[in-house]
Amino acid sequence: MSTIIKEEIIDEIKSRSNIVDIVGRYVTLKRAGANYKGLCPFHSEDTPSFIVSEDKQIFTCFGCGATGDVIEFIKRIENIEFVDAIEKLAGECGVEIKTTSEKKSEKKKEFFYQINRDAALFFYHNLCETNNAGYAYMKSRGINNATLKKFGIGYAKDAWDGLYKYFKGKNIEDRILFDLGLLSHSKGKYFDKFRNRVIFPIINTRGKIIGFGGRTIDKNALPKYLNSPESIIFQKKNNLYGLNLSRQEIQKLDSVILVEGYMDVISLYQKGIKNTAASLGTALTVQQAQMLKRYSNNIILAYDSDEAGKIAALRGMDILYEAGCNVKVLKIEGYKDPDEYVKTYGKEAFMKLASEAVPFIEYKLEEAKKNNNIHTTEGKVAYLKVAARILRKIKSQVEVEAYIKKIADETKISENAFKLEIHGNNREVTKVKYDEKKGKPDNLSTADKNNNLLEKNLIKLMIIRSEFIPEIRKYSEVFSNTAHQRIYDIIDLLYEEDEEIDVSKLKDNLTDEDIPTLDNILENIQFSGKEVQIFHDCINRIKIDRIKKRQKEIIEVLQVLDEEEDASHIRQLTNELLDIQKNLSKDNSIERGDY
Ligand code: CTP
Ligand code: MN
Repeated sequence: MSTIIKEEIIDEIKSRSNIVDIVGRYVTLKRAGANYKGLCPFHSEDTPSFIVSEDKQIFTCFGCGATGDVIEFIKRIENIEFVDAIEKLAGECGVEIKTTSEKKSEKKKEFFYQINRDAALFFYHNLCETNNAGYAYMKSRGINNATLKKFGIGYAKDAWDGLYKYFKGKNIEDRILFDLGLLSHSKGKYFDKFRNRVIFPIINTRGKIIGFGGRTIDKNALPKYLNSPESIIFQKKNNLYGLNLSRQEIQKLDSVILVEGYMDVISLYQKGIKNTAASLGTALTVQQAQMLKRYSNNIILAYDSDEAGKIAALRGMDILYEAGCNVKVLKIEGYKDPDEYVKTYGKEAFMKLASEAVPFIEYKLEEAKKNNNIHTTEGKVAYLKVAARILRKIKSQVEVEAYIKKIADETKISENAFKLEIHGNNREVTKVKYDEKKGKPDNLSTADKNNNLLEKNLIKLMIIRSEFIPEIRKYSEVFSNTAHQRIYDIIDLLYEEDEEIDVSKLKDNLTDEDIPTLDNILENIQFSGKEVQIFHDCINRIKIDRIKKRQKEIIEVLQVLDEEEDASHIRQLTNELLDIQKNLSKDNSIERGDY
C-alpha cells in the first residue's frame, strides 16, 4: 500500500491507544514501579527484560534491544508494514485515515479482487469437476489433488467464451474484465484470454488474488505461459508467487529458496519443502528483495540451470545483496530446474543440495574462472579483472581480504598487485575522510553542490550514452549521495545485461523514494549536444579531486613520520608530492596522469 499518512493522524492514533493495553494482548505484563514488565516477545528468554512505559508510551527490551512506540510494536509482532500497522490501530481506536478518493479506489480494488476470486473458482471447478485436459496434464506432472486445491489451480477450457458467458450472467462489464486481463479484445469483440491452459492464481500475502498465470497444455501454442497484465491490483515488481503460502515457513526456518517458476514452487511444496517463492521468470526487483527480507534475510537462489536462469540468478544476487540479504546459490546440474530435480530425487536430495549452496561471491568467482583459462596470461588477466570487479562490491573488508588471499594463491599473483586492481592506486585515499572544507566554512555548501552536480551529470551520461559506463565504473566511489549510489548500482547491473540502459527497467528496479531523484536528473540535466566534452570534464574533475585528496593525505602522513626512522618513506612521499604539485600546476597533463 502506498497511502501516505499524515503526521496528525499518526499522533491521533497514538494518543487514543494505550501501549500498555495493546502490548498486554500479546504479553503478560506485571507492574514494576512506574512501568510494566514481561517476557520479550521478540526473543526467547526466561527472565523478563521487556519493559513497557505507560508514561513514555514506549516498549524496550534490555535483552535484545527491541524498542519503539505502539506502532512499532504492532509492526513487529504482526510482521506487517508501517501503513498496515497504522491501519490496524486506526480501525481499533476509531480514527479515519482515508480520504474519500482513497476509499473509492479501495472499493474498486476490492471489487476487482472479488472478480478474480470468482474467476479463480470458475477455473478451479473446470479442473476438478469434469474430465478435462488440464487435470490430466497436472496429473502427468505428478501433482496430486491436495496440491491442486492448496494452490487453487484451475483450467480454462478450449473455448472463446467460457468465462465471458459466466460473467455476462453476473452482469459484469466487459471493460472491467478486460482491465483485469481476463478478456482480450479484437475487432470490436471481447473473448476469453485464457484458453486451453492450466491456470495458476497469483495470490498476495494478504490472500487476495491479484492475477493469473496460464500454462498452455498444447505444446504448439505460444507463449508457454500467459500472465495477467499489470492492473490497479497487480504490479509484478511487488509480488512473489507462493509467498502467501510460504511466508510462515520461511520465517520459521529463517531461510527462503527462491525459484523461477510456478511449477518449482508447487513441486517443492508437494514434496514438503515449503519455504519457497518464485520470481516468475522476470528479473528480481528491489521491491521483491525487500518483501523477502521481512521474513528472512537468508536467501538461497535456485534458478534454472540454463543460460537464462544463470543470468537471472547473477542479476538477482546483486539485487538481494544490495538489499542486505545473505545470498547463496544452489546449483542444479544435469536437471532443468528444481521441479525436475525434486521429482526425480525427492526431498532429502534437494535439501542436501540446498545445504551445499555456495555464497554468491564464491559462485560468481567460480563462473568467472570457468569463463577464462587462468593457465594463460591473457586468461589470468581477464579473470583477475572480473574478480576485482566482483570484490569491489563487497561491503565487508574482512571478506574481501579473505578472497584476495585465495585468488592471489590460485593465480600465483601477488596480493598487492591484485589489491591495486581492486582499489586502484588511491585505495587508502578513498578511505581517508576528505575534509578540505575545514577552515573554509563558506565553501561548504558550494563544494557539496558541485559534487552533487557531478554525480547527476554522470548518471545522466550513463543513461543516455551507455558507452561511457565502462570508464565511469572506474570511479564509482565518487557517488556520495546514497540515492545516486543506488541508481548507479542498478545502472551498472542493467549494463551487464544489455548495453543500452532502458529507463523504465531502471525505474522498475528502484524504490519509490529514489524515483523522484532520477526524474529530477532526467528532466533537469541537459547537455545540449556536448555530452562528450562534459563527460571528459567530469572525469577530469574526478581525477583532480583524487589527486588533491592524495596530496592532502601525503601532507598529513609527512607530519607524523619520524625523520630518521622513516627516511626512505619520507623521500618517496616527498617525491610523489612534488610530482602531484607539478601536475596540478599544468592541468592538462592530468588526463594522461597515473591517477
Ligand atoms: N514465464 C513466463 N512466460 C513465458 C515463459 C516463462 O511468464 N513465456 C515465467 C513463468 O512464471 C515460469 C517461469 O517464467 O514459471 C520460468 O520459466 P520456465 O522455466 O520456462 O517455466 P517452468 O515453470 O519450468 O515451466 P514448465 O515446468 O511448466 O515447463
Ligand atoms: Mn523452469
